[in-house]
Amino acid sequence: MIILGVNAYHANASAAIVVDGRLIAAVEEERLNRVKYAAGLPARAIGFCLDRAGVKLSEVDHIAIPRDPYARLGTKLRFAMRMPKFALDRLRVMRKFAGVREDLASAFAIAPDTIRARFHRIEHHRAHMASAFFVSPFETAAVLSADGLGDFASFLCASGEGPRMRVLGEVAFPHSLGMYYTALTQYLGFWKFGDEYKVMGLAAYGQPEFLDEFRRIVRAEGAHSFRLGLKYFIHQSQGSEMTWRDATSTPVLGRLFSPYLEKRLGPARKADEPLTQRHHNLASSMQAALEEVLVSCWRGLAAETGQKSLCLAGGVAFNCVANAKVLTTTPFERVYVQPAAGDAGLSVGAAFAVQHEILGRPREFTMDHAYWGPEYSAAEMKQVAASASGSGEAAIAELDETALLESTARHIALGKIVGWYQGAAEWGPRALGNRSILADPRRPEMKDILNRRIKHREIFRPFAPSITEEAVGEYFEQTHPSPFMTFAYPVRAEKRSVIPAPTHVDGTARLQTVSRSANPLYWKLLRKVGDLTGVPVVLNTSFNDNEPIVCRPEEALDCFRRTQMDVLVMGNSILEKKSAAALAGASGGDDSGERFAAPAK
Ligand SMILES: [Fe+2]
Repeated sequence: MIILGVNAYHANASAAIVVDGRLIAAVEEERLNRVKYAAGLPARAIGFCLDRAGVKLSEVDHIAIPRDPYARLGTKLRFAMRMPKFALDRLRVMRKFAGVREDLASAFAIAPDTIRARFHRIEHHRAHMASAFFVSPFETAAVLSADGLGDFASFLCASGEGPRMRVLGEVAFPHSLGMYYTALTQYLGFWKFGDEYKVMGLAAYGQPEFLDEFRRIVRAEGAHSFRLGLKYFIHQSQGSEMTWRDATSTPVLGRLFSPYLEKRLGPARKADEPLTQRHHNLASSMQAALEEVLVSCWRGLAAETGQKSLCLAGGVAFNCVANAKVLTTTPFERVYVQPAAGDAGLSVGAAFAVQHEILGRPREFTMDHAYWGPEYSAAEMKQVAASASGSGEAAIAELDETALLESTARHIALGKIVGWYQGAAEWGPRALGNRSILADPRRPEMKDILNRRIKHREIFRPFAPSITEEAVGEYFEQTHPSPFMTFAYPVRAEKRSVIPAPTHVDGTARLQTVSRSANPLYWKLLRKVGDLTGVPVVLNTSFNDNEPIVCRPEEALDCFRRTQMDVLVMGNSILEKKSAAALAGASGGDDSGERFAAPAK
């Protein structure tokens, strides 16, 4: 039984393929067409999934689309009567989805009638919930999806049991936690699609001085529901359209906040204005109000279901600061957030919704790692690495695994910036040890060095640590697994000075817990770093520079060359920039490894 999930004509376009109940491959289109948050038809992602499963499009049994134009039709019609522009947008979307078979056939140069698959339309939030619950390790759980908007709702919650989910409540447009967060993100001067996580990082610098006002902007209501103060927004009166020119352009979202919000909170920050303490406090207040609503919804859901396990999905599930509070503020003891919790994850969710809810098949798969993307052979990686040898810019060595880990760990301990390219690409927006840039977490200056030399990010944004799962309790106040970097836990007070680079200003870190079973090579590297330095932790940031995370070996080499990365480890090859020794001096700001390389026991 072959099921293809396709998130199309929407930001974070993606594809996933499930064969006989097991996920075989999943990837976002942006990794392949190199356009951040790419929308449109994810033809390359579909092509990759089919190749990985060894099947042709004509052999697929079911195609699952996470969009149901007929969901909440009555509410849509009411809005359409009030807002003609909205009606036209809906018609355009419905036409687009009606032509998906023809678009697929055209992309793969086959006749439409050779696609014998049955097409299924899975409601957006049902697909989000399926993307978490059906691949979670839980037989039963409470399930919650929250995002900006999808199929005219922003929030759905359910009780999940085996291959079924029973919906317990929903919140429909125009009330939306995602819209709330995006509107305030815009108000704070961050207008790019996907900028919300920046404001989450900024919130740690402030105090919730404006919380009372924010409680008027969004407030909990009922057992697991909430309301927006609609005066503060314009999406309900003027639309909230996400637009993109074509599949090769990043989507753009129009303004969401109203003049009334500026009247109450002061003028919006312009994108080029400096950030002040007031902005920090606004961000802090926004985050605090979101958390109050989420805690209320989680508690309501816990009370209604009696469950101890919770599955979260939708863009709001990327709020790792809030997620961590499930464990401290509710009866839930276990939380599962799959790595592509946002709209990319819909392709996985739609496919598993067909497998279980439509075909009635039992569950037999758990997503316990994130490595579902493209993978290249040792020979391909070696060939690309070797192509750098004639350039005179890098020294290359080919090492066995033991020597490779020794050498990489030593480079990290000496303060060098290491590109680490191994195995299959990660599913979801986080680099989790296969397409990562690694650095020494013990050096307080490493955040500035990474920003100056490679990432060029806003200085207030934190970097994240990876840690062996065995050491989590020694460094963090929580030990619940965070394999996909979807939780931010407080670093133990006595360890904040030990790993200052990835510890945020509020003493938390958005950690990745690494198990031997999920990523054996990365786990061994962390152990090796621990042997060398006494600290089994590395700073782990995505392998990219203002672009989607690198996918192919050629992109890794290109990023290595055009940035001031010191070392590239690709497969079993190590490339060291010939100027790396000098750069390492510059990075450490001292005579490098001596002070830091000694075990800190
Ligand atoms: Fe969504």
